[in-house]
Amino acid sequence: MENGRLAIAIGSDHAGFALKETIRGGLEKAGYAVEDLGTPSEESCDYPDFALPVAEAVSSGRADRGILICGTGAGMAMTANKVSGIRAAVCNELYTAEYCRLHNDANILALGARIVSEEDAMVIVEKFLSTAFEADDSRHVRRLGKFDAVERKYMKA
Ligand code: RB5
Repeated sequence: MENGRLAIAIGSDHAGFALKETIRGGLEKAGYAVEDLGTPSEESCDYPDFALPVAEAVSSGRADRGILICGTGAGMAMTANKVSGIRAAVCNELYTAEYCRLHNDANILALGARIVSEEDAMVIVEKFLSTAFEADDSRHVRRLGKFDAVERKYMKA
């Protein structure tokens, strides 16, 4: 994994705990500033309790990106996407990890620990963190503007 200076907030439920520990270790070794917001063990817990603090860390600007891990990635992304300013994408393969950054400026990566291998997960994380949004392409900027308009229409917070 490339050395990086991004601040990363990471969280998981029990299903994602082991993979979270591996990813956190890899990120720290690569020089990222990592804030681990739990869960602290494989004891059964509820994914929204960990998706929310990671989403808030990204939404507030305390973290540049977030990584959330559960069994599938789905529950984590669904919860995180309720928070204003969050664009969480489930990426259990490489293509989505690359294009959700290039086209959607995704700011949270959601992974399914029961779907991806540890090795593939590290490659997906690396792609997600190293790929920039295509901010000079007006199509993508326009579409994000429409995305934000939906949020303004329906989100009250
Ligand atoms: C836990 O069994 C599982 O439901 C959870 O990790 C996640 O996959 C939910 O989206």
